[in-house]
Parts: sequence; C-alpha cells; structure tokens
Amino acid sequence: MPVLGAGAPPRRVGVLVSGRGSNLQALLDACVGEFPARVVSVVSNIPDVYALERASRAGVPTRVLSHRGKPREVYDLELRDQLLSDGVEIVCLAGFMRVLGAGFLHGWPVLNVHPALLPAFPGMHGAKQAVDAGVTQAGATVHLVDAGVDTGPILAQGSVPVFSSDTEDSLAARILPIEHQLYVQALRQVASGRVAVDGRRVVVELVDGERRWIGAP
Ligand code: GAR
Repeated sequence: MPVLGAGAPPRRVGVLVSGRGSNLQALLDACVGEFPARVVSVVSNIPDVYALERASRAGVPTRVLSHRGKPREVYDLELRDQLLSDGVEIVCLAGFMRVLGAGFLHGWPVLNVHPALLPAFPGMHGAKQAVDAGVTQAGATVHLVDAGVDTGPILAQGSVPVFSSDTEDSLAARILPIEHQLYVQALRQVASGRVAVDGRRVVVELVDGERRWIGAP
C-alpha cells in the first residue's frame, strides 16, 4: 500500500490559490512549531488576490502564474516545474479554481478542499448545489486529487446542518470553519507519513501504530 508523504518532517508544502485564501491562512497558522509541514511557496493563477497578501505577510514567497492563453498541458507543466524548483514535496489546493491534469499530478500528494460532502456536489458552487438539492446535511471534504474533478480518495469530512432559510452564502459560511479544521488535520496526517491509499480508500496509521479507516470509531 503506497504511503503518501513519507520522509523527514517538516515537509515542504506548496499552496495553489485563486482568491481570498482563508484555507491558505489556516495552513499558514498551523505550520509552525511541531507541525510536520511548512508552507514554502504560494502560487496564484490570478493576480492581486488576497491570498497573495496573506502569504507575503507570513513571509512566504509568492508567484502569479497565469493560465490565460495556455493549453492545459503547458500550464500544468509550468506550474509543476515552478513548485519543484521551490523544493515542494506536498501540494495543497486552497480555493484553486483550475482542474489539474496528469502532467501536474505525477509524483507527489496533491490535496484539495471542497465545500461539499463528496461524492455529492463536485465542481463549482458546492454549497449552492446542496441548497438547491434540498439536502439537510452539507459539509466539507479534503481529498487527494486525481485526474477527475473532485473524485480522488477522501482524507477527511465534516458535516453541518442545512436550514430552510439558507442561501449559498450562509451555508458556505457555516462550512468554511470546518474546511479549515479538516485541512489542517489532513495535512498533518499526510505530512507525518501516516496516510496510505488502498484503491479509493485512505488508511491512517495512528500514533500507536494501529491502522484504521478514517471515520472508524
Ligand atoms: C473554499 O470554500 C473551497 O472549499 C472552495 O473555494 C473556497 C476558497 O476559499 N473550493 C472549491 O470550491 C473547489 N472546488 P478560500 O480562498 O477562502 O480558501
């Protein structure tokens, strides 16, 4: 069973962003002291987003790599090469609104956070999809990225109630703190080399050496 992110911590993390960067902030805040990872590079495909300011304030190097006018495969390789030259070992997508292809994904764990209980409501506007579908529970998922859209093995999930008065914005605001918490938890597990993938299922080795499926009691 392949173990992800095995190696000596702290592991070097690259974060890809496209917007306000609240998940990036959660990772920056967590990556101190004993935490087994450090954010060493932040790349945005959009200029002037607030996430870049958050990274700069934390003293993390930033770059803007625009996807505009580039074929997907070319952009994927450009992005990969940038992160490799920054010595990145683990990639975290934090509100990065581009689908990445096989050229990018090869060779390192890539994590993503999504505002829905996957496999329900993948793609854009996860919270809106939940409101429109009339479900009574929504939530967040942190998963490993594969070549599909929000289809990779699930690392962590958390749920929140959906109220009849909810709009996309009110539900997304309830989900967001869960995203932050789950992302830190999932990165900790991957960076400490305790996560292995068995088909679509993710296994975590606990500190006592016992292997359990995530979510098992
Ligand atoms: C988050 O809600 C994240 O789950 C979502 O974008 C937001 C980014 O917020 N991502 C997706 O919908 C990906 N399919 P942030 O920039 O404040 O972290």
